[in-house]
Amino acid sequence: MRIITLAGSPRFPSRSSALLEYARDRLSTQNVEVYHWHLHNFAPEDLIFARFDNPALKTFIDQLAEAQGVIVATPVYKASFAGALKTLLDLLPERALEKKVVLPLATGGSVAHLLAVDYALKPVLNALKAQEILHGVYADDSQVLDYQHKPVFSAGLQHRLDEALETFWQALHRHDASRLAVPWQKHSLPA
Ligand SMILES: Cc1cc2nc3c(=O)[nH]c(=O)nc-3n(C[C@H](O)[C@H](O)[C@H](O)COP(=O)(O)O)c2cc1C
Repeated sequence: MRIITLAGSPRFPSRSSALLEYARDRLSTQNVEVYHWHLHNFAPEDLIFARFDNPALKTFIDQLAEAQGVIVATPVYKASFAGALKTLLDLLPERALEKKVVLPLATGGSVAHLLAVDYALKPVLNALKAQEILHGVYADDSQVLDYQHKPVFSAGLQHRLDEALETFWQALHRHDASRLAVPWQKHSLPA
């Protein structure tokens, strides 16, 4: 099982990236192969000038094609997801998330923009044809106790993350099982 984690904050270290780091650590112990990407892997001018032929983008798209799942993390900027992340998502092929389970993670200064993932990020993930977009986790900054070193979260946030990762893991296996099953054998009616 292979997944991509994508850190969508222009900053590093960052709170939303800390959520992702936690996810990576947890999933690595569950036999999941994790390929980590962040915006700093791409030259800013390649993203800003929409250079579809940049080499990092090609590698990213190739790895994405081989992955069964994606976890994307973003800060809330001006009531939406980070614009820098959008410059990368804009360069992906139309069906880049086809057949993939996607778990969105977001952090914001307050809970006021809790719905930014639903009304801003999820439509973009849908446009990229994600097969299943999970509910996701939103954390406000007060719940991220340390992100400069090893991530430390409030107990409530850690619990929500654990639950979301469990759901993600189960969804990955469910999709894998249905991909391998031969539908007409599985569901055929008796003669
Ligand atoms: C330019 C900018 C705009 C922001 N806009 C919002 C906002 O509209 N709503 C909100 O809740 N937090 C906002 N924040 C706070 C960040 O979302 C929050 O601190 C987040 O955890 C930062 O994540 P990061 O450390 O991964 O970049 C903003 C922060 C910055 C720097």
